[in-house]
Amino acid sequence: MKLSNNTVFDCSIIDLSKIENDAGSITVIENGKNIPFDVKRVYYLYDIPGGEARGGHAHYELEQFVIAASGSFDVILDDGKNKKRVTLNRPNIALHIVPGLWRELDNFSSGSICMVLASQTYSEVDYVRDYKDFLNLKK
Ligand code: TYD
Repeated sequence: MKLSNNTVFDCSIIDLSKIENDAGSITVIENGKNIPFDVKRVYYLYDIPGGEARGGHAHYELEQFVIAASGSFDVILDDGKNKKRVTLNRPNIALHIVPGLWRELDNFSSGSICMVLASQTYSEVDYVRDYKDFLNLKK
């Protein structure tokens, strides 16, 4: 299968805006309105031990919105040529990750929650888990 030639510059930070009042804030993500794909799956990472890193793979087709629902962490994007580190620390900011990029997550703050909205249901065949394979597929 061909891996997309997307680069780190095809990923974007999206301001989801928030509805604020004295009792707190609400952020809404709605298919067809403020997300560039239809959401088929939501998952979240939590209870992440200090110093731990996650990710370490690429996807053939999956698009993702990554949100720091609580706390903060960094996402390192890599297209085989360029690397970009993005810090997420607000629940109303999403990082849109396009297909074909290697990603790693680190620097999780204590108690942080990484929420991911995904364009596809889980499929192991959509993963590239070996970095050398990734670099070869990007050539
Ligand atoms: P993985 O995507 O490798 O986690 P991370 O990138 O955060 O380190 O997934 C870890 C394990 O969880 C792996 O065995 C597959 C399983 N998993 C599912 O079964 N369904 C899912 O939607 C996800 C994201 C993971």
